[in-house]
Amino acid sequence: MSPSTPLLSVENLRVEFATDDGIVHAVDGISYSIEAGRTLGIVGESGSGKSVSALTTLGLTRSSITTIQGRIVFEGRDLLTLSEEELRQIRGDDIAMVFQDPLSSLHPFYKVGSQLSEAVLAHRQVSKAAARDRAIDLLELVGIPDPHRRVDQYPHEFSGGMRQRAMIAMALINEPKLLIADEPTTALDVTVQAQILALLADLQRRLGMAIVIITHDLGVVAEVADEIAVMYAGRIVEHATAARLFSAPQHPYTWGLLKSIPRLTTSRDEELEPIAGRPPSLINRPSGCHFHPRCPYVRDAHKRIDPRLLPVPDEPDHQVACSLTPSERVETWGSLKAGQASADLRALAEPSSAAQPFQAFPRAQGGGA
Ligand SMILES: Nc1ncnc2c1ncn2[C@@H]1O[C@H](COP(=O)(O)OP(=O)(O)O)[C@@H](O)[C@H]1O
Ligand code: SF4
Ligand SMILES: [Mg+2]
Repeated sequence: MSPSTPLLSVENLRVEFATDDGIVHAVDGISYSIEAGRTLGIVGESGSGKSVSALTTLGLTRSSITTIQGRIVFEGRDLLTLSEEELRQIRGDDIAMVFQDPLSSLHPFYKVGSQLSEAVLAHRQVSKAAARDRAIDLLELVGIPDPHRRVDQYPHEFSGGMRQRAMIAMALINEPKLLIADEPTTALDVTVQAQILALLADLQRRLGMAIVIITHDLGVVAEVADEIAVMYAGRIVEHATAARLFSAPQHPYTWGLLKSIPRLTTSRDEELEPIAGRPPSLINRPSGCHFHPRCPYVRDAHKRIDPRLLPVPDEPDHQVACSLTPSERVETWGSLKAGQASADLRALAEPSSAAQPFQAFPRAQGGGA
């Protein structure tokens, strides 16, 4: 979205799985790019293709039933063309990933510290003692108290929030240039969630890495993302800077996501408004605009015409895929906003003091392994 060269550039990525029930169009021609030091939020309901797109970046969806098309260019190399061995060298080094479930990355049978050390030794020529020191440094960096003791504990001795932090330590241990965080806070309570997000933002400032953060909850990325791509049924249906997405969203699906952010409701008694209907099957997708069966603004033509992702007039950094005219969209959003907790929406559009770095974490003592 700016003239400088992106660190990662995903171009027209398509991922399909040939299953017994038919072809799953999990990712259907998405494009985005990200520069060093920036954060992209990818948001959408469960089953919209977020994880598949992220896993494909690291070669983790390759299989006999998978067809992958497009390009994923990282520092000038198309990752889709690399061998398993070449990808292994990149994984956990230049590109690291944090998953929703810490137990998918932390092995229950090995001490947290040994797993962290192994991650260093896999990519760096250092002594075991140096790798262990690095593990302790990282546990400290992610705010785990008493890291000298914790380094010798097993994952089950950590709380959920601690495990998530340990997993972030694991992802960061080789100072990746790109961190992909797939629902990194979903399993955590709201307070820990806020701490983890603030931690990621703080670490990003110190290490200068790029972050792709994936979530089903638009509220999660409100304060950490520079830009946001909204995914529906394997496609990006809206892409904008975070400020524009919250102040002037253009897609009816984005409006639905915004209304379902808990903090936007004015009182505790007020029900959240989940988007009516269910996400579509990615085997038999609805005709025309894939969102049409759930869209309150659907017209007959929208059931036939598949809208392309196009720039919003006069907003080069904002794209939307919807057949309504720009003025219809602006008008509809205007009246929707007037009827809803508009003060809260404005608060989201203008990042608050909560976006400050989380101060409770100890400062890092330099990085080298
Ligand atoms: N290995 C696979 N084989 C077949 N279908 C898959 C596979 N992995 C994911 N899918 C399907 O791809 C779609 C997108 O999944 P996913 O990317 O995990 O969604 P999200 O992360 O947005 O919740 C889903 O319909 C899911 O069932
Ligand atoms: S094209 Fe029509 S059905 Fe699709 S999102 Fe826009 S208004 Fe809704
Ligand atoms: Mg997922």
